[in-house]
Amino acid sequence: MGEHREQPSRGERRTNGLPPVAPDADQTVLVAGGAGYIGCVLVPRLLERGYRVRVLDRLYFGEEPLAGFRDRVELVVADVREIPATALDGVDGVINLSGLSNDPTAEFDPQANWQMNAIATETLGRMCVERGVQRYVFASSCSLYDGLPPGMHDETAAIQPRAAYATSKRYGEEKLLGLADDGLCPVLLRNGTVYGHSPRMRFDLVVNTFVKDALLNGRLMLHGGGWMWRPLVDVRDVADAMIAAYEAPADKVGGEIFNVLHSNYQIRELAMLVAGSVQVATGRHVELVDVPAPTLTRDYECSSAKLSATLGFIPSCSVLEAVADLLERISGVDGARLTDPRCYNIRWLELLSELRPGLERFATVL
Ligand SMILES: NC(=O)c1ccc[n+]([C@@H]2O[C@H](COP(=O)([O-])OP(=O)(O)OC[C@H]3O[C@@H](n4cnc5c(N)ncnc54)[C@H](O)[C@@H]3O)[C@@H](O)[C@H]2O)c1
Repeated sequence: MGEHREQPSRGERRTNGLPPVAPDADQTVLVAGGAGYIGCVLVPRLLERGYRVRVLDRLYFGEEPLAGFRDRVELVVADVREIPATALDGVDGVINLSGLSNDPTAEFDPQANWQMNAIATETLGRMCVERGVQRYVFASSCSLYDGLPPGMHDETAAIQPRAAYATSKRYGEEKLLGLADDGLCPVLLRNGTVYGHSPRMRFDLVVNTFVKDALLNGRLMLHGGGWMWRPLVDVRDVADAMIAAYEAPADKVGGEIFNVLHSNYQIRELAMLVAGSVQVATGRHVELVDVPAPTLTRDYECSSAKLSATLGFIPSCSVLEAVADLLERISGVDGARLTDPRCYNIRWLELLSELRPGLERFATVL
C-alpha cells in the first residue's frame, strides 16, 4: 500500500451548531431504515444524547453494522411497506431513512421504489397522525434539483423531478406536508450526496468511491470530464442535522424543507482532492482518466442558507477532512472488504435477485 507518511494534526473538529444537550431526551425515537449508512451513524448519536431508539429495518445489508449499538436499541425487523401496528407503540417521534436510496436501485425496480419511498413514507405519516405522534423527520434528497437550469437553487425552486427516485421522494414530501393540517409536524431534509465513514459502509457514493478507487487501482474515472456540480455533506453532519431537525421547536421547522450540504463541488475537483490526499498519505500516484459521459448524469447546485439561518446549523466536516479520516480507516484493509457487494447498493440488489431462484431450488440443501 506504499510508504505511510506522518500526517499533520487536523486539530479539533469545528462545531456544526447542534446544541450539546437534547432539550428533552426522555423520548423514544423510531428510526426507520436505521440499519443503513446514515442510520448507523445517527443511531449511536441519538443514544449518546439519551434517547431510547427503536430501529425498524428490513436489514437489506445485514445486522452486522449494528454491532456497536445492537444491545442498546430495540430492533423491529420489518418492511416499511407493511409496518406492524405495534411499531409505533410508545413512540414520540419518527426519523425516516428507509427505502431505496439512489437512482440505480430505484430504476432497478421502479414499482418497489414507489411503494417504499413514496407510499410507505405517506403511510407512516398517516400512522403517526392516528397515534398523535407529531415530529416526522424525512430523508429527502437534493437530487430533486436535478434538471433545473445551471446555478444555485434553494428550497423554493420550482423543481420538476423526473427520475423514479426523485419523483418518489417528491411525492413523499408533498404527502407529509399535506398531513401538517392533521397535526403532523413534518421536517423535510433534502440531503446532498453524503461522504464519510459508517459502520454500514457505502462505496457507491462519489467521494467514498474515489477514495476506494485511488487506494485499490490508483485511477479515478472522470465521466464526461467530471465537470458536473454536486452538493455534498459528511455523514456525521447529516446525522446531526436530523437530530437538530428533530429537536427544534415546531413553529420553526414544522412543514419546512431544508437543504443539507457542506459545499457544492465539481466532480473533477473532488477527484483532484482525493488524488492529492491519497498521494500525500500513501505516496501512491493517482491518475485521473477521462471517460465518456454515461447517458444519465446528474448536475445541480444548491444552497444551505435556510438551514443555517433557521437552525444555526452549519455542516462542518469538509471533504478534505472526511477523506483523511476515511484513508486512516481503510488504508491497509483487505481489498475484498472494500469491494464487498453489500457496499454497493445496486450490486447487492442485483445479486440478491439473481440468487433468489437458486435459493428456492436449493432450499432443501440450505
Ligand atoms: N446517502 C446519501 O448520499 C443520501 C443522499 C440523499 C438522501 N439520502 C436518503 O437518506 C436515506 C438513507 O440513506 P442511506 O445512504 O443510509 O441508505 P442505505 O441504503 O444505506 O440505508 C437504507 C436503509 O433502509 C432499509 N430499507 C430499505 N428498504 C426498506 C424497506 N422496504 N423496509 C424497511 N427497511 C428498508 C435498508 O435495509 C437500509 O438499512 C434514504 O432515504 C436516502 O434516499 C441519502
